[in-house]
Amino acid sequence: MNKEEILKNAEAFAKEVLGKEGTGHDFWHVYRVLSSARKIQEAEGGDLFIIELAVFLHDVGDWKVIGKDEDDYGIAENFLREQEVLEEDIKQVMFIIKNMSFSKTFEGKKKDVSLEFRIVQDADRLDALGAIGVARAFAYGGKKGQLLYNPEVSAQDFSSVEEYRSGTGSTLHHFEEKLFLLKDLMNTKTARAIAEKRELFVKEYVAQFLAEWEGEL
Ligand code: ADP
Ligand code: NI
Repeated sequence: MNKEEILKNAEAFAKEVLGKEGTGHDFWHVYRVLSSARKIQEAEGGDLFIIELAVFLHDVGDWKVIGKDEDDYGIAENFLREQEVLEEDIKQVMFIIKNMSFSKTFEGKKKDVSLEFRIVQDADRLDALGAIGVARAFAYGGKKGQLLYNPEVSAQDFSSVEEYRSGTGSTLHHFEEKLFLLKDLMNTKTARAIAEKRELFVKEYVAQFLAEWEGEL
């Protein structure tokens, strides 16, 4: 199979698996990550086949998507084998998928990662910022049954993935706990510039939210 066909099949596979997932990991998340990844790649370079393949498959085995306690990376890997993707390409794509998630930042920053890894991770993280990021946070919070905001608790400083997942804060706290950390975690200059603009927008949103909370504005 040629690369074009493999990418087409990966797109169809992602559409089928992610479908109408309700925490902001539906197929349109992949569509947005793809748009950002292509834009970053234009400026930074990198192998588009690896980047696009990783983007399509990055969430198919996510624990939130499959409804399990742990991620299942076998789903993406089996797909790549079925498509007869070259072994070295499978290795590259699987490394990206296994290590790109925000929860992995608790294990420390990965060194010597590929340009493709850095681009896909940045593109995924950009989707947690800006207007879309706000929408996704509240969608996720709704699914978890979280309050929009609870002024009686304060933002937590998570040090492990367990703490992060079982956080008891409100969705507005998630902005401090994760979203405002993202800009400095960006790997590429191109993504950091986009993240800066999106973060400014979210900060403005939070200011308006808190003012309305007290009946101001
Ligand atoms: P990753 O998929 O990289 O592990 P997450 O699952 O933490 O990242 O985040 C996926 C999306 O869900 C992001 O838009 C993120 O902001 C949102 N999200 C994650 N945890 C929460 C939470 N506790 N409250 C609100 N939104 C959340
Ligand atoms: Ni994602």
